[in-house]
Amino acid sequence: MIKNIKGTKDLFPEVTYNIHDIEKHLNRFMYIHGYGEIRTPIFESTELFTRSVGENTDIVNKEMYTWEDQNGQSLTLRPEMTASVVRAYIQKQLWKIEPISKFYYIGPSFRRERPQKGRLRQFHQFGVEALGSSNPEQDAEIISMAYNIYKMFGLENLSIKINTLGNKNVKKKYGAELKNALLKFKSDFNESEYNRLQTNPLRILDSKNKNIQNIITQYAPNIFDYISDEDQKHFNNVTHILDSIGVPYIHDHKLVRGLDYYNRTVFEVISDNLGAQDALCGGGRYDNLVAELGGSSIPAMGFAAGMERLILAMNLTNDQNIDTDIYIVNITEKLIDDSMKLADDIRKDLGVAVYLDSLRRSLKSQLRHANKMNAKFVIILDAETIKEKKVTIKNMENNKQESIAINNIISYFESK
Ligand code: HAM
Repeated sequence: MIKNIKGTKDLFPEVTYNIHDIEKHLNRFMYIHGYGEIRTPIFESTELFTRSVGENTDIVNKEMYTWEDQNGQSLTLRPEMTASVVRAYIQKQLWKIEPISKFYYIGPSFRRERPQKGRLRQFHQFGVEALGSSNPEQDAEIISMAYNIYKMFGLENLSIKINTLGNKNVKKKYGAELKNALLKFKSDFNESEYNRLQTNPLRILDSKNKNIQNIITQYAPNIFDYISDEDQKHFNNVTHILDSIGVPYIHDHKLVRGLDYYNRTVFEVISDNLGAQDALCGGGRYDNLVAELGGSSIPAMGFAAGMERLILAMNLTNDQNIDTDIYIVNITEKLIDDSMKLADDIRKDLGVAVYLDSLRRSLKSQLRHANKMNAKFVIILDAETIKEKKVTIKNMENNKQESIAINNIISYFESK
């Protein structure tokens, strides 16, 4: 038997039903905030991700699905969407047309991580990217949007961690000092932590190892002491706005995020209900990325969120039936054409859901199925009544039956 690939999931209607509902709310949420949907390809040239996410990140180093195309070009399934949005933005030279562009997206991303609860190899992200503004209100808008989305879905026990990374040079300088400070404790590090400290020292700050965390708490320098006055002012302005609009946050000096393109503000929303993979979403500023990928110097800020983690945190029950409004019961082979025509007429004229049995089941089992689908009405076609150009309509709520002329079916339902 051929099975799905580890870390991927088949989603059946009882789950996609919930997803449609979530997407409907998200689309509306984005619309009322002035963000328009962007859809970019699922695969891109590999270079896009190595140059943006960064050569020394876990994502690029070991998690990308990369292959060589027949013409020798290296292609990659997107591990995230920010790089693609920026590529599309640059390709269209949008800054020449609009001083600010606000996008959102919903779609699959791919990372070859070890699958576990809340961590998949094909997962789905929704997110926003605002390109054009370097002002702190842009950071605050994006952080508050992330917070309000989870509030909209009724999530409690959330915390927002926020930090600032300063500019690119700070990351370099601080990284070097952090490395120096921690190398004194070399023997406490395992091989992969040691390699991480060598290649991407900032990432050691979010090590899950308790011992390393203790060392960091006691001996690591604080990035806030390295950033410029301008960066500090920016950060203070962001938190000031968050305070005044009532978005709670914790300033976590150790939050650095796993992608290279960030500068200044970074943040994550954490849920208490998720276990080890507790980040519902993450994001931050990436003021250099557009220029680094060949565009103009355009500041930007965004976040992305895992759809599967949202669904886990919402604790949704996946027992949603596919319901219908009207179930047409037909037990006469000769009336198949009539019942299909009737179903189409009702759908077209009334825009309601009409279900037709295609198994030629007995009257009893079709009625049982209609019940399971929560049909409000059942139309029964049978050879006898059809001769008189009539059908029987059963109201499933009060079990009353009426005989209705075929020509009057539409007006019958219009009056309901
Ligand atoms: P990220 O933190 O790598 O950031 O991913 C964002 C969110 O995607 C995570 O918080 C998590 O909810 C979800 N996620 C990531 N990996 C997995 C996985 N393997 N399985 C399930 N869910 C996962 C980014 O992707 C950045 N592009 C965010 C951003 C947008 N920054 C600025 N703009």
